Amino acid sequence: MQINRYERGLKDRVAVVTGAAYGNGRALCERLAEEGARLVIADIADLSDTTAMVQAAGADVLALTVDCTSPADVQAMVDAAVERFGGIDILVHNVGHYSEEPFDLLNFDEWQRTMHLTLDTLFHVLKATIPVMKRAGFGRIITFSSDTVWLGTPYLAHYVTAKMGVIGLTRSLASEIGRYGITINTITVGLTATHRPQNTTAMSSILEHILPQQAVHRSDEPEDIANVVAFLALPASGIITGQTINVDGGVARH
Ligand SMILES: NC(=O)c1ccc[n+]([C@@H]2O[C@H](COP(=O)([O-])OP(=O)(O)OC[C@H]3O[C@@H](n4cnc5c(N)ncnc54)[C@H](O)[C@@H]3O)[C@@H](O)[C@H]2O)c1
Repeated sequence: MQINRYERGLKDRVAVVTGAAYGNGRALCERLAEEGARLVIADIADLSDTTAMVQAAGADVLALTVDCTSPADVQAMVDAAVERFGGIDILVHNVGHYSEEPFDLLNFDEWQRTMHLTLDTLFHVLKATIPVMKRAGFGRIITFSSDTVWLGTPYLAHYVTAKMGVIGLTRSLASEIGRYGITINTITVGLTATHRPQNTTAMSSILEHILPQQAVHRSDEPEDIANVVAFLALPASGIITGQTINVDGGVARH
């Protein structure tokens, strides 16, 4: 496909978004829909709210129950996207797993679960999607890390390790796929006002602690993350790759 470097917007671009049922995933689906993208939304959880939201924004949407730990599920998702829309222009892998545990109490099961849900799922979606993008000579991939990798936040050794892995995979892969017109970038997300942190008692006290540390003294909203995703997904962002964009109100700025 011939890409106009200055092409505006995401009209008719096909975006696959994993972890689309809640939080950042849902907000970024709405944003991509508003920009004109067609969407494949995937999650293990119920997608009816996200489906209604993106349809209200005028998007053509395919909602799929997908467990991203399963290579077969992920391959079926990619095949369904190609069958319905003819290809995949944008991949946003938003699935993550969060838990807090002092290292003394962290058991090997939780360590492995965190690596599995963070890194193995990313491996599966990249393995299935990149061949489709290579054939088209175009792709925009956005992965999700966390600003805790810069902050060295306590009780998150497993999470921080996994999210550092996301950065490593993003950077290395950028070197391999740039020649096919595919970019891959990651966002180190700050504490964001999604349902997850608000539902965790410890997290609401962290929010009180974090806000004064931000350069911008307001909470990081899912829409803030969605703005950056929409920017990185643009055809015109094709010169940006292998980068880590920190979106946390400036906590990690020192
Ligand atoms: N919210 C924050 O404060 C924050 C901070 C830093 C980084 N992040 C990162 O941003 C991303 C989204 O965060 P969020 O708070 O919206 O998370 P979330 O937990 O609300 O959303 C993750 C989504 O992934 C889905 N999911 C989980 N396991 C799955 C699987 N095996 N297959 C398919 N779907 C699965 C969940 O059902 C959920 O809809 C995550 O990668 C997270 O680590 C979030």
